[in-house]
Amino acid sequence: MGLGQEIVSLEKQLIVQTYRRAGFVVERGEGVYLYDSDGRRYLDFVAGIAVNALGYGDPELLEAIDKQARRLIHVSNLYHTEPHVRLAQMLVQNSFADRVFFCNSGAEATEAAIKFARKWGRAGGQDRYEVVCFTGAFHGRTMGALALTPREHYQAPFRPLIGGVRVAQYNDLRSAEQAIGESTCAVIVEPVQGEGGVHLASAEFMAGLRELCTERNVLLICDEVQCGLGRTGRLWAHQLYGVEPDIMTLAKPLGGGLPMAAVLVREEVACCVEPGDHGSTFGANPVAAAAAQVVFRRVAQDAFLARVRDVGSYLGRKLHELAERKREVRQVRGVGLIWGIELTKEAAPVVEQGYAEGVIMAVAGPNVLRLVPPLIIEPEHVDQVVQALERILA
Ligand SMILES: Cc1ncc(COP(=O)(O)O)c(C=O)c1O
Repeated sequence: MGLGQEIVSLEKQLIVQTYRRAGFVVERGEGVYLYDSDGRRYLDFVAGIAVNALGYGDPELLEAIDKQARRLIHVSNLYHTEPHVRLAQMLVQNSFADRVFFCNSGAEATEAAIKFARKWGRAGGQDRYEVVCFTGAFHGRTMGALALTPREHYQAPFRPLIGGVRVAQYNDLRSAEQAIGESTCAVIVEPVQGEGGVHLASAEFMAGLRELCTERNVLLICDEVQCGLGRTGRLWAHQLYGVEPDIMTLAKPLGGGLPMAAVLVREEVACCVEPGDHGSTFGANPVAAAAAQVVFRRVAQDAFLARVRDVGSYLGRKLHELAERKREVRQVRGVGLIWGIELTKEAAPVVEQGYAEGVIMAVAGPNVLRLVPPLIIEPEHVDQVVQALERILA
């Protein structure tokens, strides 16, 4: 039995089967390519699901991780360390936020955001605790985040869910208005829904939502776990809409592949949170924070973001052209380097055929193909993926 077969069969035997993994073993990555245990090369248009913004083996990232790991890998949040404070400086200087809370994953960032919003909602003798979320949303799989992820498929087996959640229609301002009540403390929205099938919020919706939240004195939380930090060609996805949230969650690309997430908040929210209200053993990890400094410094550069916009619009153009030629493509949606290709058929077999073509793609729902490549891809990589799709959808 080869190494690949052995690992695949041991995985089936030993690992809780929460994932449907591809049938090969990924051994290493280089640039925008992954290599499996048989030495096969794949062009990676998933990037760890919107994580590996700088691709694989970035020398500056590796050096920062190596340097920090040799110095200090972990110490409790009972003590001060420098890397997360430097990272917070960067995030605060380049956003609406005044303070940052660090944790390790998108779901954890959602949980922290809910807790901070509830703490704010209960300040000064008020009793506001409800959170409004939207159809098609995905905010994570922990019980709090799951309650804000209103799809039967995710929620049904795990009821009862936590209470205090109302669901409104995405891109429907009237529905949001109706969902906000006396007890609402926050509205949580993805400016671009990723898992839900790559749907962009409309400009009117985001502007209206901001206005509505301000009017009704409710916090606006932007979940930018997937769409934030350069993915849309803007540093923050909410900048596409010219609005600012009161809380923003970040995760996937932040740590350069190491577990790292952040909740960015305005001072009026931060000042409601006291020592003991929340915490995380691994949050603010020095190595992850050192890696995140490199990712942030690189991605936040105007020239880097301009390249994401350029190569992103090239990808968009090529996908729209493909849609004109292929009847199996119902719609193409996206911005920057997050694209969804809605098919008239199931997307999973197309992903499978992609592997045979040496291309890695993902799904976002049953009939949507999702492309979220490293942010460093070149037009030639776009051509390779589109040519592969051309063959697969023949
Ligand atoms: C918008 C959004 N929020 C939250 C999450 C949850 O992140 P994690 O898987 O790191 O818990 C995801 C994951 O896909 C996401 O796309």
